[in-house]
Amino acid sequence: MLYGKKAVSFYGLYDRRDKKSRNMYNEVDFNKIDLSLAAPQEEPERQYYFIAKCRETVQELKQEAGRELTFHVETFGCQMNARDSEKLTAILKEIGYQESEHEVCDLVLYNTCTVRENANLKVYGHLGHLKKEKKKNPYMLIGLCGCMMQESHVVEKLKESYRFVDFVFGTHNVFKLAEILYHRLASGGQIIDIWDSTEQIVENLPSERKFPFKTGVNIMYGCNNFCSYCIVPYVRGRERSREPKEILREIEALVADGVVEVMLLGQNVNSYGKNLAEPMSFAELLKEVEQVEGLKRIRFMTSHPKDLSDELIAVMAGSKKICKHFHLPLQCGCSRLLEDMNRHYTKEQYLELVAKLRRAMPDLSITTDIIVGYPGETEEDFLETIDVVKQVQYDSAYTFIYSRRSGTPAASREQVPQEVVKERFNRLLAVVNEISKERTARLTGSVQEVLVESIDDHDDTMVTGRLENSIQVHFKGSKEDIGQFRKVYLREAKGFYYFGEVVQ
Ligand code: SAH
Ligand code: SF4
Ligand code: F3S
Repeated sequence: MLYGKKAVSFYGLYDRRDKKSRNMYNEVDFNKIDLSLAAPQEEPERQYYFIAKCRETVQELKQEAGRELTFHVETFGCQMNARDSEKLTAILKEIGYQESEHEVCDLVLYNTCTVRENANLKVYGHLGHLKKEKKKNPYMLIGLCGCMMQESHVVEKLKESYRFVDFVFGTHNVFKLAEILYHRLASGGQIIDIWDSTEQIVENLPSERKFPFKTGVNIMYGCNNFCSYCIVPYVRGRERSREPKEILREIEALVADGVVEVMLLGQNVNSYGKNLAEPMSFAELLKEVEQVEGLKRIRFMTSHPKDLSDELIAVMAGSKKICKHFHLPLQCGCSRLLEDMNRHYTKEQYLELVAKLRRAMPDLSITTDIIVGYPGETEEDFLETIDVVKQVQYDSAYTFIYSRRSGTPAASREQVPQEVVKERFNRLLAVVNEISKERTARLTGSVQEVLVESIDDHDDTMVTGRLENSIQVHFKGSKEDIGQFRKVYLREAKGFYYFGEVVQ
């Protein structure tokens, strides 16, 4: 494994004596990788090698085409996918493609979601459209990755009816984009590379951010909970926690690069660290993250109620940086259905947790996820959900119509008729919205810190930012405000957002 002109070992770039302290990828000089040698076996070095290989090929293609080549990554699904897409984007830029806002370009990559059927259907819709576009552009490549690709029936369908899709990979080998793309560029034909599972966590791949001042940071991957309706454990595999050192090193580097807010990401952050060689709780990790100088706001997602510890509540209550906002998915207010869902808490236990949280942090904003129409849900069961919503007074709630996911236990149970589900869904939404409006309005007339995110979509003399509880505020400002904290007087609540004025 040689790197550069002199026979430097691949690790010559790093300090060999202490692999843990080796540098981040951005100190890698891709021009110095010796491509006459075989690809290294170790990651991420192997991917660095393929990035360099792709660079050469893409450079040739650009010369042949007489223009730049563009790419677009389209993301479906949750924050994990959004974070993965930031990494995929950085790799494609490193390879020499230019980012485009449009899907019709030279390389389009769909990072898919399959948590509900409609997420899944959207992808086929987009592909139908792209098929025609591809005929017009000989350089166009279409790639698919993400959760939907972990389902074998999807891959079968792509093989049979979507031959124009060039390359497909899954969640376990998402780090392999450069290698897979290189093989597609070199050989043509449809490339499909899906792994069933992995123990591997590949660190130090290129990464970039949608916002310079905030980003998500994965702390763990996968899920072990197997809620009976949910496909995530099947498509994301078992829980794997990142080493705290790696997480802290990433956050320190992000802060040095201008990040002031991080969202720690995992399907169930409350079970972080259980499988590490040296186990560590999520609360302990938060204490460490709090110490990172220059970091101003810490968020996390998602907390499973069954693992929410008193230690976490105490750490949060005592923290200056952790946002006083808790996303605590309820799913359903009926204890019988919660048991069937395999959620491991009852309605009463959930309400007790909320009471504990509020005792420790009276100003806390609580948000949730709710599923309507889970198999076997009766009107009485549904009213239990409404009851919890009214008791908790959520700041906001994501409400979902139950979607049957093949292979999950709930899929084979008797389903609630669609008209009944729709009617319940609308009723729930009305209650949630009314409470949410009232909760939002409670801060009217106060002065709050806002992290400014962007110029307002509707008026370019205004900016948009977020409060600690994630609610948006619009006020007069300019691009100099972006990424800055401003003290803002909240003049008027407009449903789910505010208009305000800067006070300093
Ligand atoms: N790990 C997180 C949730 C990830 S999925 C947690 O446990 O809270 C995000 C949300 O999608 C879930 O909270 C659930 O409300 C919803 N969801 C998952 N599977 C669903 C399905 N089959 N139908 C409808 N909604 C679903
Ligand atoms: Fe799905 Fe449950 Fe895991 Fe969340 S905790 S991802 S709802 S199985
Ligand atoms: Fe969707 Fe996968 Fe996230 S199924 S919700 S993108 S983990």
